[in-house]
Amino acid sequence: MDDRATVNHESMLEEVLEGLQQQQKELPSKLFYDEKGSELFEQITYLDEYYLTRTERSILQENIVEIGEQVGPKSLLIELGSGSSSKTRLLFEKLSSVAAYVPVDISEEYLLKVVNNLRMEYPRISIIPVFADYTSEFDLPNLGDSYQKQLVFFPGSTIGNFRPAEARSFFATVCSVTDADSAMLIGVDLKKDKTIIEKAYNDEQGITAAFNKNILVRLNRELGTDFDIDAFKHDAFYNEECGRVEMHLVSQQEQTVTIAGEQIYFKEGESIHTENSYKYSLRDFEELVSQWYSVEQVWTDNNNYFSIQYLERK
Ligand code: AVI
Repeated sequence: MDDRATVNHESMLEEVLEGLQQQQKELPSKLFYDEKGSELFEQITYLDEYYLTRTERSILQENIVEIGEQVGPKSLLIELGSGSSSKTRLLFEKLSSVAAYVPVDISEEYLLKVVNNLRMEYPRISIIPVFADYTSEFDLPNLGDSYQKQLVFFPGSTIGNFRPAEARSFFATVCSVTDADSAMLIGVDLKKDKTIIEKAYNDEQGITAAFNKNILVRLNRELGTDFDIDAFKHDAFYNEECGRVEMHLVSQQEQTVTIAGEQIYFKEGESIHTENSYKYSLRDFEELVSQWYSVEQVWTDNNNYFSIQYLERK
């Protein structure tokens, strides 16, 4: 993930204040990813309990030939979010000729580091970074007829961190900036036994708890708030009705926090909702994308924990 420490402080303050003044207090989950948060997320991806990353990687590895056949030759690979992972490298090595690679990320510093490494490893692939927030419209480079098809790569079940309405607006945005015949390869975490899901967000080592609390550490540092970090406890549970994991920070006592001169009052047991992570059934997901894409092929693992889906524009 990326270092989003460059987020504009004024708009950050506005968003934070607005979230904490709601009945159910909330903070935007994009604020997790400062340098420390990105490091903690990286650690999460290696945890035994966190099945998502390794399952997605093994689905990709096992089906890469078929995926390559679906995608076809000379694709323009557009990756949304960080491009540092072994998954990108696997696509580079196994897709029959990548025409060019366009990683899109909000953090310039981070993206340049990734791009420099990839350029050294794959000198024959043309890499064109785009610094942008992919949740709103962004410009893609005009590469004429140097490629056959644009393939948007969106792994990691990051789509799960959007509410359904946000996810729809994301698909609409991506469609508005890509070719009418573009395709998407997307990683989607699936509905499953609740105990397995909850373990993934409540690891024994407490890395996810540290990741969750780091958002308060960041606010103290960047906005000068005075959160008592130890007075909040990590809580993550599966909300069956909404089909999502919710992460919260629960106030362990009655307390008041000061943010830019505003006092925010917490009752004992009151929480800040920090993240949603939606889990989909294959049918729910097909329905979610149906306005823009048809699901052409789905690959899963033997347990049906996770899916990689190939979508084509309608
Ligand atoms: C980035 N995203 C897909 C992760 C998830 O599983 O929702 C973020 C995360 N939150 C807690 N653990 C990992």
